Amino acid sequence: MNVAFPIDLRSDTVTRPTPEMRAAMGTAEVDDDVLGKDPTVGKLEALGAELAGKEAALFVPSGCMANMIGVMMQAPAGSEILVAENSHIHCAEAAAYARVAQVAKWPLKVDAFGRMDPAQAAAAVRFGHGLPGGNSHHPTTSVLCLENTNNYCGGTVQTAADMRAVADAVRKRSPEIKVHLDGARLFNAAAALGVPARDLAAPADSVSFCLSKGLGAPVGSLICGTKKAITQAVALRKMLGGGMRQAGVLAACGLVALSEAHRTQLKEDHANCRRLAEGLAGLPGIAVDMSRVQTNILFFDYAGAKGDAAWLAGALREEGVWCLAMGTRVRMVTHRDVNRAQIDRALQIAATLLK
Ligand SMILES: Cc1ncc(COP(=O)(O)O)c(C=O)c1O
Repeated sequence: MNVAFPIDLRSDTVTRPTPEMRAAMGTAEVDDDVLGKDPTVGKLEALGAELAGKEAALFVPSGCMANMIGVMMQAPAGSEILVAENSHIHCAEAAAYARVAQVAKWPLKVDAFGRMDPAQAAAAVRFGHGLPGGNSHHPTTSVLCLENTNNYCGGTVQTAADMRAVADAVRKRSPEIKVHLDGARLFNAAAALGVPARDLAAPADSVSFCLSKGLGAPVGSLICGTKKAITQAVALRKMLGGGMRQAGVLAACGLVALSEAHRTQLKEDHANCRRLAEGLAGLPGIAVDMSRVQTNILFFDYAGAKGDAAWLAGALREEGVWCLAMGTRVRMVTHRDVNRAQIDRALQIAATLLK
């Protein structure tokens, strides 16, 4: 079998625009989107809002910016947001919430699947000076941030009921609290659970999702919420430097990325990830927690006679299998540019290396 190299499992962000995307870019109707006039961006935002079950959506350059705007449009400066201790917002967004949003973050423990405990989340809600039960030592909790799928747990999925339980517990303490869902991989969660994305977004006031991960677009994310919130989001995007002019060429790719075919493809990526995990689990030195292999992200521990996780990632790379070492773990992510034959070849290569 002719297997294309490299087999790039570093991330689902490495996909190349498809021929259909490149063609769509070539014919996209465009105008100045900072003036709110680009028709292709308008179409993308309407489709994104519909799929997320929200009133409106805004096209932004990245997942980080979508989250940042999602929080800033709902969290006043000086307030506090509740975040999962291993969330992308807490761990991997360059301290933006302190530096730019000027909010405090209160990290909450999560279980192996990225789920918060509703009682713990409710107990973390705080009220500032002047509010009933308030205290001049404390900021006021403004936003609860959830993440689905959870990247650092290994692409694990939460059901709408899991998320609603936390959201309800927190809102019971304060109905003023808004819920933001970092759904960078929301459509992976939806594909894994076999439910519409909008059902997963329903417990949240706002949801962000990336077009440029498993869905395959080269650039872009959407932040979705109420019409009022998205009106504020437009100003925040401008302030953050994310206003884009003839962005219709990118939105055209986003429309392809959101098509049913691309959303359905995610299921194949999940099957490939499982096949990869099952194959690797039998090799010496590799430990895989199969219960966490739920979507397209595989983390496994490696400590073998030949070296550590960094050694394994380096050795695989020399053989044309690209992945990332993260501490004691190796991360491999499946996506639409890696097919089953490549997965099987990657397994053969790993088996030969670890023999
Ligand atoms: C859960 C999660 N949220 C947000 C982001 C940020 O997306 P971007 O890289 O487009 O800024 C990522 C990126 O990997 C992510 O995994």
